Amino acid sequence: MNPKASSTARRFRLALLTGGGDCPGLNAVIRSAARTAFGLGWEVFGIEDGFEGLLTKRARQLHPRDVRGILHLGGTILGTSNRVNPFQTERRGADSAPPRAEDRSGEVVRNFKAMGFDALVAIGGDGTLGIALRLAKMGIPVVGVPKTIDNDIECTSVTFGFDTAVSTATDAIDKLHPTAEAHGRVIVVELMGRNAGFIALNSGVAGGADVILIPEIPFDMERVCDKIRAREKRHGGNYFSIVVVAEGARSKGGVVHLRAADRRGAPRLGGIGQWVAEEIEKGTGKETRSLVLGHLQRGGPPTTFDRLLGTRFGAAAVRAVRDGDFEVMVALNPPQIVRIPLGTAVGAGRTKKVTPESDVVLSARGLGISFGD
Ligand code: F6P
Repeated sequence: MNPKASSTARRFRLALLTGGGDCPGLNAVIRSAARTAFGLGWEVFGIEDGFEGLLTKRARQLHPRDVRGILHLGGTILGTSNRVNPFQTERRGADSAPPRAEDRSGEVVRNFKAMGFDALVAIGGDGTLGIALRLAKMGIPVVGVPKTIDNDIECTSVTFGFDTAVSTATDAIDKLHPTAEAHGRVIVVELMGRNAGFIALNSGVAGGADVILIPEIPFDMERVCDKIRAREKRHGGNYFSIVVVAEGARSKGGVVHLRAADRRGAPRLGGIGQWVAEEIEKGTGKETRSLVLGHLQRGGPPTTFDRLLGTRFGAAAVRAVRDGDFEVMVALNPPQIVRIPLGTAVGAGRTKKVTPESDVVLSARGLGISFGD
């Protein structure tokens, strides 16, 4: 159906979906997209729990009252899932038989049409947008909105959710400083980010960390210990240090640390902070503590920056639908919001990483922060 048609029997029906891990600012996007669509005279539907809702035909119509008062709320009013890929769903076999992977993408396309939707705004990270791209190729008119606290999506200078996560992490580092200093201890804080070090890098620099370990710069434990010893020597006695470690960081020649797999068997990053803390204690003899900031980084109200970016993304996505410009992702190319072909942004499993020569890394090095290399 043509989004611009005004005198047709039924109104244009826009579906919204949030997929992958939640992040602050999702509700700002939902509110903005819905309100912009209402302004165009469209009907708006919220698909529940990401692609799971398209497999099980669960969606509800959103009215202005449903998107009122949600701008400042974390989470997503639609629910989300980071384990459902319609191209690879799990089909349980008989009792003890292991589950088999099954492609149910055709069902998703049929359900989308049967539910009477005309276009989909998919709000998610590289996983969700990668699925959206494949569904677009199968005939679903899709516009993508990039979200993730990890900031690891290509073609957008930043994703919403990242600023809030960095603020939360910086706040944690600020709070660790006085207790580390009071006891002359080393405190290691492990932060999220998957295989990208943006959260650790930005919060580490903003929070005045002494050592920052990120996936893009493999580290040597001896160099990390050198830095801690040097600080102690310079201050002539028992002295504190703050070490920030991205969950995907690894030592030179080492491997990433994984926690026990989740209930579907998917590996989860984590555990490097504890390992680094133990190695520091062994290498320097200094009392060392570690903590994992975890899902606190995904919670709380979005910052002003994330609310604004989410609002701009949501409205821009609806304008793309209105223009019939599909298989694109809205992106920030300051100061503009632009449209990027989805394939360029997330095709072939592409993700963004910290550039070791970037100005943030260079500035951090200039300030004496060690990357352990
Ligand atoms: O991608 C967002 C993220 O929070 C990552 O930083 C982290 O590795 C992962 O999701 C955690 O996923 P889960 O919520 O499934 O534990």
